[in-house]
Order: sequence, then C-alpha cells, then structure tokens
Amino acid sequence: MELIFATNNQHKALEIKSLLGKSMNIKSLSDLNFTDEIPETGKTLEENALQKARFVHQRWGKNCFADDTGLEVDTLNGAPGVLSARYAGEEKNSAANIRKLLKKLEGQNNRKARFRTVIALIIDEKEMLFEGVVEGRILENPKGKDGFGYDPVFKPNEADLSFAQMPLAEKNLISHRARAMKKLTDFLNNYAEDL
Ligand code: IMP
Repeated sequence: MELIFATNNQHKALEIKSLLGKSMNIKSLSDLNFTDEIPETGKTLEENALQKARFVHQRWGKNCFADDTGLEVDTLNGAPGVLSARYAGEEKNSAANIRKLLKKLEGQNNRKARFRTVIALIIDEKEMLFEGVVEGRILENPKGKDGFGYDPVFKPNEADLSFAQMPLAEKNLISHRARAMKKLTDFLNNYAEDL
C-alpha cells in the first residue's frame, strides 16, 4: 500500500520507513516533487496535523499522514505549544526560542512541561489521530550538544539527562515522536495484515 508522509524532512521519512514493514510504500512530498510548505494555521497540534493531511489528500487523492509537535509548558498555559518552531520569531531560530523560554521561566519553580506529537492519518477516506507524549521539565540552563530544537533544556522524567545529552537511540526509546509513530505503525501493520 502506498502512503504519503506530508513532510519534506527526509530524516523523519527515513525514520518511519524503518519502523514499517515492506507492505507500506512510504513516499514523502519530495517524491511528489512538492517542495513548498503546506499551510499550518491551526490553533492546536490536532488542527495543524489534520490540515496538512487534508491538503495532501485533496491534492493527490492518496492515503497519507502528517505530524505536528509542540512543547507545552504548564506555567505558560501550554505555550509555546503550536508555536514552538517560531516562538521567538518567523526565522525559527532554536537558540532564540530557548532564550525566550528561559527568560519567561526565570525564578519559576514549577518547570513541568511535555513534548506532544500528533499524527493525523487519512486512510480509505477515514481520518484518525495518534498521540505521543513525553513528560518532563525545563532545565534552568541548556545542557548537551546533540539533538535539535528545545532538546538542551528538556529533561524527561524517565532520564537524568537532557534530550541533548542523550544518544539519539536513547531519545528514540522515549520520545513523543517515537511514541506517536509507534501507535501509527502498530495500527498500519495490523491494517495491512487485514487487507
Ligand atoms: P515539528 O512539528 O516536528 O516541525 O516541530 C515543531 C517544533 O517543535 C520544532 O521546530 C522544534 O522547535 C520543536 N520540537 C519538535 N520535536 C522536538 C524534539 O524532539 N526536540 C526538541 N524540540 C522539538
């Protein structure tokens, strides 16, 4: 079965291909020669993931899925959330995003936060959502050099290291994205078997 992943991020596309059996033929937007950005104007991760999946489905009429991720900080009422990539501005600068976040949390004892990934799947005209969450806290100072985005300031409850201090394989065992992808791949592997 062919399935379009609404992303131009080759790293994400490879990751999902390695998780799925051979029964799924995963294509990304670059395989469709589409290099533009799909609009993301929703107020929630769910709305954005659905918006991207519906865009692909309407344009190419194919089974597809899309993901959206946000960092949700309790004392900031869930911010940066859906705005995580552009928290400090349109240029999507991770260092500036982290600086803004740490400033907002200065002197704050409650540093509880979570990463949440939502995947929207459209398959045989049905829409489904899958969610992956990792609970943790925002560190006072960045730690570690690996990873991307907010990894240096996010410490999951399940580990003593920040995401940026962990080898990628270790992060992938507990990350929000891996958890959402696992739910998606479990569903798809069963779905393919039932066909
Ligand atoms: P996206 O929906 O996967 O593009 O993620 C949106 C934004 O959330 C990214 O630009 C990052 O700032 C942040 N983000 C998502 N996943 C991670 C992660 O695993 N570590 C750190 N930051 C992340």
